[in-house]
Amino acid sequence: MNEEKSRVTTVRLQNISYGHKQSATLKAAIELDLFTKISEGAGTFGEVASALGITELNAERLVVACAAIGLLEKVGVRYRNAPDVERFLVRGKPSYVGPWLVFSAHDFEHWKDLKDFLTTEEPPKVLGLYEELTEDMAREYHEATYSVGLGAGFLFAKNVDLTRRKCILDLGGGSGAYCIAALQRYPHLRAIVMDFEPVTRMTRKFVAQWGLQEQISTLAGDFTRDPFPEGADVIIQASNLPQYNEETLGQVLRKGFEALEPGGEYHVVGETISDEKDGTLGPALWGIHEALFGSLGRAHSESEVRSYLEKAGFVDITVNEFIPGSLTRITGIKPA
Ligand SMILES: C[S@@+](CC[C@H](N)C(=O)[O-])C[C@H]1O[C@@H](n2cnc3c(N)ncnc32)[C@H](O)[C@@H]1O
Repeated sequence: MNEEKSRVTTVRLQNISYGHKQSATLKAAIELDLFTKISEGAGTFGEVASALGITELNAERLVVACAAIGLLEKVGVRYRNAPDVERFLVRGKPSYVGPWLVFSAHDFEHWKDLKDFLTTEEPPKVLGLYEELTEDMAREYHEATYSVGLGAGFLFAKNVDLTRRKCILDLGGGSGAYCIAALQRYPHLRAIVMDFEPVTRMTRKFVAQWGLQEQISTLAGDFTRDPFPEGADVIIQASNLPQYNEETLGQVLRKGFEALEPGGEYHVVGETISDEKDGTLGPALWGIHEALFGSLGRAHSESEVRSYLEKAGFVDITVNEFIPGSLTRITGIKPA
């Protein structure tokens, strides 16, 4: 009986192999605006069909798949959004992250050839994806990162007391989301967003939307090669950890340590895996994603990042919960 109960099946493996179907279902639902319509009151196959302008058969397929994935919940005879869907996937809400989730599916066609990327003999590129960054890529990328980065930026500003700080240097700051959010809470601050040239054009666009051109400037450059400006007492390096290896990260951290004002703080807000290297799913997948770009990057654990900060000279290092399962904030202080 016990043996019968513990017999393994192929179901888990099959569902993992169908992962792309889940991803595509989510993408289609966002593109069709299913979750906005459900939030507005469509709750049956018929109502969804007329709200989306699709057949009732396809509405049923989509709604049933979304419910099985856990994106929708059934209450009585009607469907409603799961709590995270209601918060993050209803268009018009400030917390809407549709652009980021749709963007995440943009390299579908490369993933099916992952084996080829894993067995390639091509020499690695330090900057991976960014070696060939074009204006169009930067625009598409940061319209997406802005939607998710702003929420993270507000959380950062809520968690980190910057009352006595003067100037943030945001390395790989992308849309400028972290600095924009910090300035809402700490309007006395100045900030510099350093990123590749095509990205800084996008940064300026977002900064202007918030009327913060005076407070937030941009610096076009490669943080692995170019010097850092003087005068910052806070450095943020958010969501660009798995793109690099220990050696490159060490160089960046040492350069940051030199440039920081004495007593200043360096925050690595990174996609970290468990210290045992047997999880965490999202960050681990960002690590393998780097194979597609031919970089030297991989997923790093919290204790590894802590040790990189120590080696660079930082003290009082703390590992802080940030967005569990996604990002950890690891902070080091430059001695005064
Ligand atoms: C995933 S985005 C994160 C953007 C922003 N930090 C946020 O969290 O919203 C990664 C950013 O790091 C930038 N980046 C990566 N490597 C860089 C480098 N070597 N020099 C400058 N920027 C870099 C990319 O261009 C991109 O804007």
